[in-house]
Amino acid sequence: MEQTARPWWTGAVGYEVYPRSFADSNGDGVGDLEGIRQRLDHLTWLGVDALWITPFYPSPGFDHGYDVADYTDVAPQHGTLDDFDRLVADAHQRGLRVVVDIVPNHTSSHHAWFRSALGDRDSEFRDHYLWRDPAPDGGPPNNWVSHFGGPAWTLDEATGQYWCHLFLPEQPDLNWDNPAVADAFDDILRFWCDRGVDGFRIDVAHGLKKHPSFADNPQPREPEDPAHPGQIFGSFDHLYDLDQDDNVEIYRRWNAVVRPYGAMLIGEVGTDEPTRLARYSEPGILHTGFALKPAWKEWDPEWLLDYVQAVHEASPNGISWVTDNHDTSRSVSRYGGGPRGIDRSIAVTTLLFALGGVPFLWEGQELGLDDGIIAATDLEDPVSTRNDGVKGRDGTRTVMPWDDGHANGFTTAARPWLDAHDRPAHQTVAAQVADPTSPIHRYRDLLRIRSAQPAFWESDLEWLDVDSPTARAVHRGDVVVVANLGPAPCTATLPPGRWTVVFASRTGITLDHAEGTIVVPEEAALVLEF
Ligand code: GLC
Repeated sequence: MEQTARPWWTGAVGYEVYPRSFADSNGDGVGDLEGIRQRLDHLTWLGVDALWITPFYPSPGFDHGYDVADYTDVAPQHGTLDDFDRLVADAHQRGLRVVVDIVPNHTSSHHAWFRSALGDRDSEFRDHYLWRDPAPDGGPPNNWVSHFGGPAWTLDEATGQYWCHLFLPEQPDLNWDNPAVADAFDDILRFWCDRGVDGFRIDVAHGLKKHPSFADNPQPREPEDPAHPGQIFGSFDHLYDLDQDDNVEIYRRWNAVVRPYGAMLIGEVGTDEPTRLARYSEPGILHTGFALKPAWKEWDPEWLLDYVQAVHEASPNGISWVTDNHDTSRSVSRYGGGPRGIDRSIAVTTLLFALGGVPFLWEGQELGLDDGIIAATDLEDPVSTRNDGVKGRDGTRTVMPWDDGHANGFTTAARPWLDAHDRPAHQTVAAQVADPTSPIHRYRDLLRIRSAQPAFWESDLEWLDVDSPTARAVHRGDVVVVANLGPAPCTATLPPGRWTVVFASRTGITLDHAEGTIVVPEEAALVLEF
């Protein structure tokens, strides 16, 4: 697409598409690129500026595409490179940018590099991965654990060495100290840039470099739920396997690779500490990083507001804000479910939209979806299937409900790949588009108002006085956003001038702005000076 003086993502809002679950064009029960292309009008109607498509590359699917067997092709179940080209062309024609997912922390065990490296110390690709000798007792070389359960090491019996995998054994971690790995990824980035992509979402961006000592991580906490691999992972301080200081050097190099193309780099930066997070979006490194902690939390307004403000202060324009994605329980469910969960979720999004950076919505968020309901026997996520059915990520990944026909209009196959209860009519795109009071219209209004007010990303940001720890008010230029996430009304002191409420995240609430103040329980209001 044509380059402008300012980067294309200035003021943009993105939309995450999980191709397996978005739209199935060929009736095999699995979503595909052609399905996405056929639904682009939904995204332009909604008013987003870019779509991020999670992996659609050839993959054995142990982690549903995040185990990539070939970085420069399309999995047959998702289509072909020609389909990809058509999708990009049609998106661009509508003014939509396309961001693809890149998975550099690990490959699939089916990748040609790993097939060659496994069992052969002399393979030219052996050093693409992280091999270590056993500990003196013959066990794994250190105490690192996998996000998905068990040790982060599996024994290669033929060579007597273990390979490192922060996720499944079928997702061997790459060795980012090997220059050949870095060279290969430069080529992969160029391959997709040459096909016209506008950016990359970098999977596990905080994980690539490991500390050379490969020392044990301290485990200062007991896991709250010792059966859940995520809880076990979280009970360690990841001093040696994650967020090493020199990770950012990889992205400094990538920045130079993509700069001539005007492409964007967005990191999945799974580090919670605001100043560590900020390092990834310093000039010349990534353009934004996802601040993911809020996407994992239950409703806790005081915590949320304190955290969001601290992250914003450390990275005023470098965050891709999200409440939801393909890994976490949907915010509507986490925030109490039903209309109340929807209201809370839209209120939080309204505030996040005022904080600069490039926020993203997750498919179905615009419908106010809660987590889908799946029978225990139909679970697909390895977090669940490999850990005795513990809660995994399937609930957020159920298919997009387009209408109330067969399989919610997602597929003509008997059932979708992830079988779940069909959604009721009021949760579908068709019904909500026809109902001006539905969540989709609230999101659409919010997007429309934001994109028409450059103050949202251009003007200096000031936190105004509010009389509640569970509320925040943000003033930038001729825009004020007041988010009151507490149960009681609050009052925010607006700057002098004439202000009018143009968007209220919850319908049916009385907004009092006669005295230049606003009273908004569990609601966010967007106020413009006129
Ligand atoms: C990221 C992805 C997640 C995947 C993991 C391993 O966290 O968002 O879906 O399972 O990386 O690639």
